[in-house]
Amino acid sequence: MVFSKILISWYLKNKRDLPWRKTREPYRIWLSEIMLQQTRIEQGLPYYNQFIAAFPSVFDLAEAPQEKVLKLWQGLGYYSRARNLHETAKKVATEFNGKFPKSFKELKKLKGVGDYTAAAIASISYNEPVAVVDGNVYRVLSRFFEVETSINSTAGIKEFKELASELLDKNNPSNFNQAIMEFGALQCKPRNPLCESCPLNSGCLALKNGKIKELPVKLKK
Ligand code: ADE
Repeated sequence: MVFSKILISWYLKNKRDLPWRKTREPYRIWLSEIMLQQTRIEQGLPYYNQFIAAFPSVFDLAEAPQEKVLKLWQGLGYYSRARNLHETAKKVATEFNGKFPKSFKELKKLKGVGDYTAAAIASISYNEPVAVVDGNVYRVLSRFFEVETSINSTAGIKEFKELASELLDKNNPSNFNQAIMEFGALQCKPRNPLCESCPLNSGCLALKNGKIKELPVKLKK
């Protein structure tokens, strides 16, 4: 079986039941992806639920006073994320009539939305075939393919983006992207990955060559 098929079937069996997985609404996908940056899912989940309760639509968020937004963000850290979030909500509400841009390229123009977030929204909400690359993806790919290029080098960023794009299931980018991230979080974990029960273990080069603990490579700058 191919890499993407194994990952997706693992995902369908093992994925966590999370509120943003029950929707394709770009507002909710965007909010969850911004919140989950530099934040663990267990930590972000209650914040997400409180935000959605307080601001069920992008208009509600746009119209809220800044203090209320920052108050609900309290404890998540990286407050520039919350300020960008609010600014982008106002832009989407007033300039785009509440509708998020519909492509990776247009999404990237929004403040606080970089490659990662634009790819997540475009693939999950619109099924656009763009690969996401986050810390989970670096870990899974560097191990399976035994890629020793540093993940924080220009060459590494390019190499992993290309690899992820080749592997992406173009017919199911939403599930593929979420599958590889969830797989990195639950199976191919940073410490003590569950190699014995891993559905990819027979092809994993790092496992074969005893390099699991060495990968991914991240150079100190
Ligand atoms: N981490 C951040 N966003 C995620 C997603 N959509 N699926 C799995 N893990 C994630």
